[in-house]
Amino acid sequence: MGEITDVLKLATALKEYSPTPRLDARFFYDHYSNHPTQTQISEFIQRRKAGEPVAKILGKRGFWKRDFRVSSDVLDPRPDTETLIETVLRFYPEQTAPYRILDIGTGSGCILLSLLGEYPNACGIGVDKSLSALKIAQENNGENTAHRAMFCQADFTDDDFGHRLGEFDIIVSNPPYIPTNDIDTLEKSVKCYDPLIALDGGYDGLDAYRHIARHVASLKKEGGLIFFEIGQGQENEVVRIMGQYQFTCREQVKDLGGIIRVLVFG
Ligand SMILES: C[S@@+](CC[C@H](N)C(=O)[O-])C[C@H]1O[C@@H](n2cnc3c(N)ncnc32)[C@H](O)[C@@H]1O
Repeated sequence: MGEITDVLKLATALKEYSPTPRLDARFFYDHYSNHPTQTQISEFIQRRKAGEPVAKILGKRGFWKRDFRVSSDVLDPRPDTETLIETVLRFYPEQTAPYRILDIGTGSGCILLSLLGEYPNACGIGVDKSLSALKIAQENNGENTAHRAMFCQADFTDDDFGHRLGEFDIIVSNPPYIPTNDIDTLEKSVKCYDPLIALDGGYDGLDAYRHIARHVASLKKEGGLIFFEIGQGQENEVVRIMGQYQFTCREQVKDLGGIIRVLVFG
């Protein structure tokens, strides 16, 4: 049986369970270099039927310019988060500069490691409360970034958060920003397969920004910038929170869907 026929056959089997059956089938066959076993095919169909995302089944997700290992311990990197990468690159066009970068709530490490991939002389620290997420981030730390990226546990709700981290040119964060009561309304692929700690932003979704805002002044070098990913409609509140700490919003950046997704503060 030819490869295309196999992909189409799997896509047909997935039609009822996935909004993107052909893409799922293509990813699946690519993952197994076109030679999955019948058991692997059956298991894939069963897990898609149960609503598990393709990335979680295959254990990897494409983000920016490479694949990242993912597991039930980390958020699947989202295409919207690439807006944050693009924005940093636009504000910091000097690619050979030795920037210091801090990624707060690093998860799979996708933001920090993608930025270090673009800035070959930069180094950075990714922090997360979740030890199991940090383990995945470290697994994603490839040869090219191994000596420039460090991952360590830190909780941004702690009063002494960041005390020993030093100062940074670029601070990035995609923190949990879903209001607690909205989590139940999310798609099954998110609420059942992304870790709650990566989603839950408290009653109005803004808890993480309130916590991070009180620490960033001491973490940012003079002239440095902070880049936040935010949820839909959160821009005014996050600008207000950061304003309480004398940060001004330099730019509000829309994602491909036209939603304000990234705020830049200086
Ligand atoms: C929305 S996920 C973002 C993950 C990754 N940066 C990305 O963009 O795909 C938020 C991350 O914040 C981490 N986190 C949640 N609460 C935290 C806390 N109190 N201190 C540090 N990290 C926290 C979660 O473990 C999770 O990895």
